[in-house]
Amino acid sequence: MSRIPETRPRRLNLLAITLGTAVIALANWWLGGWITPAEGEYRAGYLVILVALLLPGFLGAVVSGLAAGHRRPTHGLMAALGMFAAEVIWGAGGGNLAIGTVVVRALGFSCGAAVGGYVAGRVGAHLRSARSRAGDETVGASDRAPLLEVDDLSMHYRTTDGWVSAVDGVSFALHKGEALGLVGESGCGKTSVAMSLLRLLPENAEFRGGSVRLNGVDLLDVTEDEMRTRRWSDIAMVFQGAMNAWNPVYTVYEQIREAMDTHFGSELAEKQIRDRVGELFDLVGLNRAMVDRYPHEFSGGMRQRAVIAMALSCDPQVIIADEPTTALDVIVQDQILQELKQVQTALGMSIIYISHDIAVIAEVTEVMGVMYAGRLVELGPTADVFSRPRHPYTYLLLRSTPSVTGPRRVLAPLEGEPPNLVDPPTGCRFHPRCPYATQRCREENPTMELIDPQSGYSVACWNWTSVPVPIRKDVEA
Ligand SMILES: Nc1ncnc2c1ncn2[C@@H]1O[C@H](COP(=O)(O)OP(=O)(O)OP(=O)(O)O)[C@@H](O)[C@H]1O
Ligand code: SF4
Ligand SMILES: [Mg+2]
Repeated sequence: MSRIPETRPRRLNLLAITLGTAVIALANWWLGGWITPAEGEYRAGYLVILVALLLPGFLGAVVSGLAAGHRRPTHGLMAALGMFAAEVIWGAGGGNLAIGTVVVRALGFSCGAAVGGYVAGRVGAHLRSARSRAGDETVGASDRAPLLEVDDLSMHYRTTDGWVSAVDGVSFALHKGEALGLVGESGCGKTSVAMSLLRLLPENAEFRGGSVRLNGVDLLDVTEDEMRTRRWSDIAMVFQGAMNAWNPVYTVYEQIREAMDTHFGSELAEKQIRDRVGELFDLVGLNRAMVDRYPHEFSGGMRQRAVIAMALSCDPQVIIADEPTTALDVIVQDQILQELKQVQTALGMSIIYISHDIAVIAEVTEVMGVMYAGRLVELGPTADVFSRPRHPYTYLLLRSTPSVTGPRRVLAPLEGEPPNLVDPPTGCRFHPRCPYATQRCREENPTMELIDPQSGYSVACWNWTSVPVPIRKDVEA
């Protein structure tokens, strides 16, 4: 309970916007005195007005952009549009300005804001990457023990066609407060890895080896009873498609309470549970007055937020979010990702994001792993994987994804399909689709090679030095 923060992220955003607006108002007032006489007639020419209003627009966008933690330089365009609209509304509503003056003022503001927003985005990205580097420096270092250590994990499913090797020798480490992403095409084993970590596997699943150490304890070795107490309190999960799995006949509060009862038993009084659910609702950006509503009264985005609240209810150290935003539109998707990120930072929690969408992983993680056909083929700091992918699969995956922030480029679709995991290709499982494949690739399975001990960057490919560089300098993590 103690990890619920007092300050709400939404207030921070509000403060940022208020700060930016205050700066604009102050600068405008000061400049207004200079370019406008008391009776309201502009004495300056349009050019002077335009140039003079660049500054308040610039300052406002820098201040609110930095305070709100703008992620991308392109957010400057949003600031610019907002200021343009605000100025037109203000100018038209005031009624005492000529239309030309309104347009010139709006242009001045928004041009300033565009540059200011760009600067805020650049500085924000620089600060984040410096912070991320400070954290990454110890990713491969021995003085920072990982919270979760997955080592050579293998898990297969029995089917009528044979064994499906869904997880094959997967290893990675997750540190406290870190966000790690797992990305890959559909069917590559992302959910199977997650379910293996929680030991929530169907009857036909079988572990074939490896370990999952949480705080040094191997979760694959503990009894089922112990695992039941660790699930949700140590390691929780936002299941793929869970927002559509609410029981329609119970309220959202009743369902979250049931999850908490299972874990805490009679330890918590009704009032404590109610307060806790209210706090969780605040934390994920839901109105706490909604707790007693039924799931069908929530929109898709709200249901997903409530799922996240439920996953947080037992205060876990690690959360696995499996495709947390896939079924949502891009605006709600962005909001939920930002909120998850804020919750993670506020609670100092570790998160594993799972997504087939590489842009989502780029936005919210510091470290990312790329999976192909049940194997982890590339692992490293997200910014490095994006700017200089070493594995041909990652390279081709990125080339097939449009970049929103970067220059236009021709997209190259990723040819072929992932293999049938009942009978995967010999050697490197990517070789039938790989343009760099050699005879060795068809015969020998490449194991993960540590190519940068400082950052822990690893790749499983015999020919990684042949992959061209770089393909998208413009992607910020
Ligand atoms: N219960 C099961 N029984 C048999 N095979 C299964 C079972 N669950 C998953 N598989 C198979 O295991 C492989 C990995 O599936 P998994 O769901 O982990 O992939 P994924 O990367 O999460 O895919 P998606 O992006 O579509 O969610 C696939 O070949 C899938 O068909
Ligand atoms: S090992 Fe060979 S087939 Fe596999 S990704 Fe590397 S070059 Fe391609
Ligand atoms: Mg899945």
